[in-house]
Amino acid sequence: MPDTWKLKDKSFNKYILNEDIQTKVRELSARINTELDGKVPLFVVVLNGAFIFASDLLKGVTIDCEIAFVKLTSYQGVKSTGVVQQVMGLDLNIKGRTIVIIEDIVDTGLTLEHFLKTLWEMEPAEVKVAACLLKPEAFHSKFPIDYVCFSIPNEFVVGYGLDYDGLGRNSSDIYKIIEG
Ligand code: IMP
Repeated sequence: MPDTWKLKDKSFNKYILNEDIQTKVRELSARINTELDGKVPLFVVVLNGAFIFASDLLKGVTIDCEIAFVKLTSYQGVKSTGVVQQVMGLDLNIKGRTIVIIEDIVDTGLTLEHFLKTLWEMEPAEVKVAACLLKPEAFHSKFPIDYVCFSIPNEFVVGYGLDYDGLGRNSSDIYKIIEG
């Protein structure tokens, strides 16, 4: 992929290379293998953005586990709408289970906060959160984020599953917006 990428009206610079992502993701898979061994966790992948991260992460998970998918939306363009919609929900009995939510990025935390409320009503034993990216300056929620690959500044990024208005998900590297 090029160093600078134009998507619609915005330009982006290459920011985190895939080889660096792979290193962090491998470390995370190894941690999960150690920490969740014997718990048969249910990984809940948040679509659309987490599909590439989840695929890489779960290829490195060697313990017994199950995988399910939900679809949540709150973003339009480069801004959160503040309204979280569960477009595709979880249709499994998760009572007593160890759940690991897999997210592409945690920004304000609003999307996950909303989803966690719904999840806790289903009486799981524990819920952990794994995010490829975290924007600590934007994060205003209280729930713990157990596994993070990269903490980044409060700037808009695309690639590795993340989109700008539907575009950019297919890049294996992560790009950061050029402001101005
Ligand atoms: P939150 O509710 O503010 O934490 O936002 C979470 C969701 O917003 C993520 O799952 C993404 O879909 C989207 N999002 C947040 N920041 C970015 C970004 O920098 N690029 C692309 N999507 C983002």
